[in-house]
Amino acid sequence: MAPPPASAGFFRLDRELLCDGVPLADIASGAGTPVYVYSAALLRERYRAVDDAFAGYPHAVHYALKANSTLAVARLLRELGSSADANSVWEIDVARRAGFDPSQIVFTGVGKTAAELECAVALGVKAINVESAGELARVDAIAQRIGRPARVAVRLNPDIDAKSHPHISTGLKINKFGVPLDDARELFATLKGRRALSLVAVHVHVGSQITSLDPLRRAAAIAADISLELRGQGLPLEYVDLGGGLGVSYDRGEVPAVADYIAALVAEVRRTRLPIVVEPGRVIAAPAGVLLARVIDVKPRSASSEFAILDAGMTELLRPALYGAFHAIEPVSTAAAGDRHYELVGPVCESSDVVGRDRMLPRLAEGDLVAIRDAGAYGSVMASNYNRRPLPAEVLVDNGEWRIVRRRQTIDDQLSLET
Ligand code: LLP
Repeated sequence: MAPPPASAGFFRLDRELLCDGVPLADIASGAGTPVYVYSAALLRERYRAVDDAFAGYPHAVHYALKANSTLAVARLLRELGSSADANSVWEIDVARRAGFDPSQIVFTGVGKTAAELECAVALGVKAINVESAGELARVDAIAQRIGRPARVAVRLNPDIDAKSHPHISTGLKINKFGVPLDDARELFATLKGRRALSLVAVHVHVGSQITSLDPLRRAAAIAADISLELRGQGLPLEYVDLGGGLGVSYDRGEVPAVADYIAALVAEVRRTRLPIVVEPGRVIAAPAGVLLARVIDVKPRSASSEFAILDAGMTELLRPALYGAFHAIEPVSTAAAGDRHYELVGPVCESSDVVGRDRMLPRLAEGDLVAIRDAGAYGSVMASNYNRRPLPAEVLVDNGEWRIVRRRQTIDDQLSLET
């Protein structure tokens, strides 16, 4: 007999894929497909890996809600002690409903509207991470008008190449993000005159799915240098915000360990004696989720390959179509013998709707279930209603039990917005 599966995450028992000990096939029968399934145990494990790696160095982990802001996920992380990074007023709202206090929320984002800024100032969030001189002036004006001082961090653009996919590299001068270093120095010089603002940190975030520590380390070093410079000028900072960005291994290739990543950040920042804020999203959520889909049809593609048409595609998981991203895909039950060559595609009316290119998998048949791995981050949050497809359901598995934490959208939900 096969050994019992380890308790956390996605494991096979005999030929069946389980989530925290619960057969994924049972969840698919009960909740339907396509459905996102999250492992509470893995979410906890991944959060703790980040938190514990600081090994006593003062810090705050601000989970990046943009990766996955389903209320149940946000709540679970808050209960573990996480703080939050929100990228819109709507994510701030979700954070509040998940129980985060405004003092636990940093507000990031390159284009915050006046209404969003006003909401953040009025709430008194931990910091508004400003991205330009114009935004700083807007926050100042709002803070003066409503008579509530605002806490700000300035996002630096350190001109560092994160060497990730160009769509998700943000640290180069040519990217729209942050304030270039020279301009930042000018901006800091104006801060003493702005009595409604207090500068609490400098912020860097150079990209996402970064698979080498070097750019992250260099960005941290720059943030530390500037922080010391500012302190020398009599601007007392409270912490250094180093953003998120550490990649995960989608294809079993080597990626830096979370512990090494955090150790590298601490090594760069220790000389400032300032606490560190990090904003990880993907490393916490990606491995903790799968997208479960069913095979609708199988048809020939070439002499040696077949299309497996799934009931999930770019509308449920956009990453492969948008970035050419790789997600491992495996049948939930591996009873079938003999591998075949597949192009796994969705039901959407365009050829970019591919979820897995060029895969060797055990033979698939109509009705089979497949699990698309590492879909816990930037999966559900990027889903769309293209082709009027409903947003998928989401399930959280916790302690051997599963429950629907977001029901599948209906066409009535969609049409309720229309007149
Ligand atoms: N902080 C800021 C300011 C960010 O812009 C981001 C991600 C994070 C933190 C979290 O980064 P993480 O630790 O998750 O890498 N949709 C893309 C990812 C976009 C990331 C955007 N910003 C994808 O599916 O790969």
